[in-house]
Amino acid sequence: MEHFIAGLPKLELHLHIEGTLEPELMFALAARNGLTLPWPDVGAVRAAYEFDNLQSFLDLYYLGASVLIHEQDFFDLTFAYLKRCAADKVVHVEIFFDPQTHTARGIPFEVVLGGIERALQAGEESFGISWRLIMSFLRHLSEEAAFATLAEAEPHLARLHGVGLDSGELGNPPTKFAGVFARARALGLPVVCHAGEEGPAAYIWQAINELQVRRIDHGVRCVDDPELLRYLADTRLPLTVCPLSNVRLKVFEDMGQHNVLTLLEKGLCITINSDDPAYFGGYLGANFEALARDLGASREQLCRLSLNAVEASWLSLADKARLTRDIRAHGACHDALPG
Ligand code: ADE
Ligand code: ZN
Repeated sequence: MEHFIAGLPKLELHLHIEGTLEPELMFALAARNGLTLPWPDVGAVRAAYEFDNLQSFLDLYYLGASVLIHEQDFFDLTFAYLKRCAADKVVHVEIFFDPQTHTARGIPFEVVLGGIERALQAGEESFGISWRLIMSFLRHLSEEAAFATLAEAEPHLARLHGVGLDSGELGNPPTKFAGVFARARALGLPVVCHAGEEGPAAYIWQAINELQVRRIDHGVRCVDDPELLRYLADTRLPLTVCPLSNVRLKVFEDMGQHNVLTLLEKGLCITINSDDPAYFGGYLGANFEALARDLGASREQLCRLSLNAVEASWLSLADKARLTRDIRAHGACHDALPG
């Protein structure tokens, strides 16, 4: 199974680049930038990665991101992630960045975007990994702040492929951002939204009806609403599910309780993603392995999850056809799919 997963072409559609900051790089960047971290060493940082819920993680995640100052820091962060992708046979990524986490500290938008984009271009050249870049608003901040960030992004719109919404979900429903999402859509940007991670199924409906999302990020609480389940199965509106993240943030007690395969078998367009892999104990390959090990996912199901990600991606039809063929060929070669 490990060999099968290692060779399966995979796509990542839910990944926060700031969540790929490994403690080793965090310390290296802190030293390079003359900053002091509140932990003595890498081991102490890792030991602090015990989370009770989403907020306890976010507190550490925003603190970690404070070592990112220069364009080269954002390049190094992103390129390190793409190296991990190449090792995991990830062939396409659609990643989030949180500009407000950086502009609030006085880091110019252009520095953040420039470093990430340069690394994505270098990763495409070095590893053949295609990419899209999604600017995400922080939902614990105001809609006005999101409008200001969108205005800052406007000169760079051609370099952005979509808009998302992340950070603390409870008490910050999608409706709070209906105005700024309407503006993003009017500018031609497709939108996605974290919903139904800790928040209720009603937030997923809001993301669909009021934000007009192209995908739901997480969405696992859809299981509480039979009508929503039917809607998601009928429309194939994709969910970007993050199994290791959900267990580490106690959305599910353990992997054995995760509903991802149940949702897959109900016909939903479920995709597998790593969210913040440096904090949650594994990149995309490790998420696939956890499904096989702890949920007994079959090779056919793993192929289907990868095919769903092709369907859910923002790739061209030609690229979708090519990746579909590659995944099918891998499945057939391992007797997971008909040849
Ligand atoms: N920002 C980074 N990771 C997140 C997650 N899992 N949920 C909400 N916001 C996030
Ligand atoms: Zn996320």
